[in-house]
Amino acid sequence: MSKKIKKIALLTGGGDCPGLNAVIRAVTRTAILQYGYEVIGYKFGYRGLYNNDYIKLDLNSISGILHRGGTILHSSNKDNLFDYQVIENGETVKKDVSDKAIENMKNLGVDALVVIGGDGTLTSARDFARKGVNVIGVPKTIDNDLLATDVTFGFNTATEIACEALDRLHTTAESHHRIMLLEVMGRNAGWIALDAGIAGSADVILIPEIPYDLNKIVDKVKEREEAGKQFTIIVVAEGAKPKDGDVVVAKIVDDSPDPIRLGGIGNKIAADLEAIIKNHEVRSTTLGHIQRGGNTSAYDRILSTRYGVKATELINEELFGNMVCLKGQNISYVSLEEVIGNTKCITANDEKVAAAKMMGISFGD
Ligand code: F6P
Repeated sequence: MSKKIKKIALLTGGGDCPGLNAVIRAVTRTAILQYGYEVIGYKFGYRGLYNNDYIKLDLNSISGILHRGGTILHSSNKDNLFDYQVIENGETVKKDVSDKAIENMKNLGVDALVVIGGDGTLTSARDFARKGVNVIGVPKTIDNDLLATDVTFGFNTATEIACEALDRLHTTAESHHRIMLLEVMGRNAGWIALDAGIAGSADVILIPEIPYDLNKIVDKVKEREEAGKQFTIIVVAEGAKPKDGDVVVAKIVDDSPDPIRLGGIGNKIAADLEAIIKNHEVRSTTLGHIQRGGNTSAYDRILSTRYGVKATELINEELFGNMVCLKGQNISYVSLEEVIGNTKCITANDEKVAAAKMMGISFGD
């Protein structure tokens, strides 16, 4: 057992995601029960690290949170301490305040930091590791777009929710002979749309990786009519775009490191389809943050628990500067240096896309 480590800290950064609480619980329980570490949690991600805003985590404070989405530590997707907004001489300026965060950790006697987050949060984790901080990363995002792990926690829950939404849209679409679209999240990756589309028996799946041709969607609707089906279900990833067009941006969040918020492609396609197809009403539903809220799926509770346990084991083995990951069936770890900037999108020869096509699902291409 490591003699060097006595106290560890956790933080959750970026958008919230089902499974964050399960990781917090697993790290805290393993740290206390197996290694006798003291555990604290910084509030609101890196902001808490800068402001020295933290809570003590013990077996009591993490009791009853395994199933709950969100994060008891709260989160922020705006606070990059290497480029942080501060007020100096009455002026708002951005500067690197990472040394202050390191000093705060030293003063508190924090020996290691577990950073639970996606690409942006883990980029800072890598940068802190480069400055000598003992960091372990845990990969979070419903988008499942980190190359360094086969699966990020949160993805399964989001997909289950999207699948259930498709099941619900089916019955109402069938009753009214409507074309129903479901817009799901995923940023520039189509994983949620692809998996939910296959599981939820969508007729058309539109993903960012395969730009669509509107005429091909119309063809699918007609093909179904000819087969006696008077309704069509389309799942569309928020990052999907037409062959000759671009993504639909919902909002620019200026003070966010990743300012573009996608959204609105479902409504756009609904309007475009209604201009062509006159014998069916077209409706679009945007699932939005419902995909991130509520209870965590059993799969994600287990994955998050395994990640949390492994992260704490890595601390005990003093294997810092790494991120836990899933490779096949096994929990492993990879250097944070290899994680950043390597996103995982659906490739042209993806086996699941091929299987869906074999089943007659259209990708609008
Ligand atoms: O990365 C997770 C995610 O939910 C994306 O799927 C989505 O594009 C984005 O975050 C939404 O961000 P926000 O919660 O800031 O609106």
